[in-house]
Amino acid sequence: CTSGGDEPRSTAPQRTPATSAGESAGALQQRRAEPGAPGIGDPYYPEAGNGGYDAQDYDVSVRYDPDSGVLHGDSTMTARATKPLSRFNLDLRGMTVESVHVDGVRTRFDREGAHELVITPERAKAGNQRFRVRVQYHGTPERTASGLGSNGWHRTPSGGAFAMGEPPSASFWYPSNDHPRDKATFRLTARVPQGWTAVSIGREEQTTTRDGWTTSRWVEPEPVAGYLTTVAIDRFDVTRRTLDDGTPMVNAFAPGSEDLRPEARRTGEIVRFLESRFGDYPATTTGGIYLGADIGYALETQGRPTYDAGATLSTIVHELAHQWYGNEVSVSSWADICLNECFASYAQWLWDEGKEGADLDVKYHKTVAAVTEEFWDPPLYDMGAGDEFQGVYGKGILAMHALRRQLGEEAFWRVMRSWPREHREGNASWPEFERFVERIYGRSLDGFFAEWFHRSGLPDEQYLYPGTL
Ligand code: ARG
Ligand code: ZN
Repeated sequence: CTSGGDEPRSTAPQRTPATSAGESAGALQQRRAEPGAPGIGDPYYPEAGNGGYDAQDYDVSVRYDPDSGVLHGDSTMTARATKPLSRFNLDLRGMTVESVHVDGVRTRFDREGAHELVITPERAKAGNQRFRVRVQYHGTPERTASGLGSNGWHRTPSGGAFAMGEPPSASFWYPSNDHPRDKATFRLTARVPQGWTAVSIGREEQTTTRDGWTTSRWVEPEPVAGYLTTVAIDRFDVTRRTLDDGTPMVNAFAPGSEDLRPEARRTGEIVRFLESRFGDYPATTTGGIYLGADIGYALETQGRPTYDAGATLSTIVHELAHQWYGNEVSVSSWADICLNECFASYAQWLWDEGKEGADLDVKYHKTVAAVTEEFWDPPLYDMGAGDEFQGVYGKGILAMHALRRQLGEEAFWRVMRSWPREHREGNASWPEFERFVERIYGRSLDGFFAEWFHRSGLPDEQYLYPGTL
């Protein structure tokens, strides 16, 4: 799915098709077709995602041998053209492409730049036409440094591997429209040598072992952003249970993650607590992928977050809160990241308040008194490419608490519960959130939002201490 579709306008002049006598509708479509954009229109990452089509489903098949470190992939994307399309791009980083088929027909392709796979079908796709793209590929997947840890394909201490990253992630291991604006259902078949276990997001279907290879199948029936998909391969110990409401829970523990088992056992309790604040749990599965590796962050992979060795109980609360904020309602662009991180980080405070009796006003005053001047520097909205994660985990929490005191309990909780529900399986931007809050509050909050979210520096006194704070 893609809710935006506002790809950069083509510079080619709009040709008004003068239907010459005798020209067939098909020929007209062919003549009007234009290339899809190499980016979906993200202000920070112009090449992230692609324009001209809307991915609906990925059926990804990978075979991975930890000894060689080589991944073999065979992936099919089902998409719908959003306009007459003469060619289009997928995002794929590194990897050797062996073949591309569009609707079963072997098709020409090119690689452009660091992560574009350009596909030129023999016949253009008509606007709205559904089509299938199958890509067969192999290689050693890459990894790139990011401001916080690294994105892409990582190796584990026991010799396994996992895909993890944000903003980009999917394009490191399968060809995709790697931007949260285009969410699609996701199915994975993973083959690993016997003795290894592959774990992914979604429902676990049957696992079989034959000729020394174990094949498992994972199905996520709800639309998911590329960076919220994953595969992790390790010597996992997998536990399976069902929550009271029937939600299947799969926890996978890699060697080195033993310390987190007591916290992981509280997953059901955490989900129930968050439901008491945010409304019904939006994902179809739960659990966690617990890695032995230390990569400096955890990630809210859909319905089954991925935790590095540094995670704590509070991290689990944070990643599960993302199932409402980030996964159910996803960002429209990476400038909107506070919609994910400010909310999930505030959930950690809500846990402290609800479960440990913390007085959040006291916590707020203490934090304001303790932080350095630089703490206030990063804006929480439109913070700039590469700076997405600077302020959202710290200043973001205070901003959410100030918003709560500004709105009052009734309006604040109405906002928290209705925001993910109203954007179910969809996307939204930060400015849309501001309008949403103002509608519920019934008054303008221009000053409040400007001071807390758009500007650097300590917010003005009246917004730093609204109402009873
Ligand atoms: N969304 C992740 C979290 O909730 C953070 C991801 C940060 N990105 C990165 N490349 N390290 O903690
Ligand atoms: Zn987060």
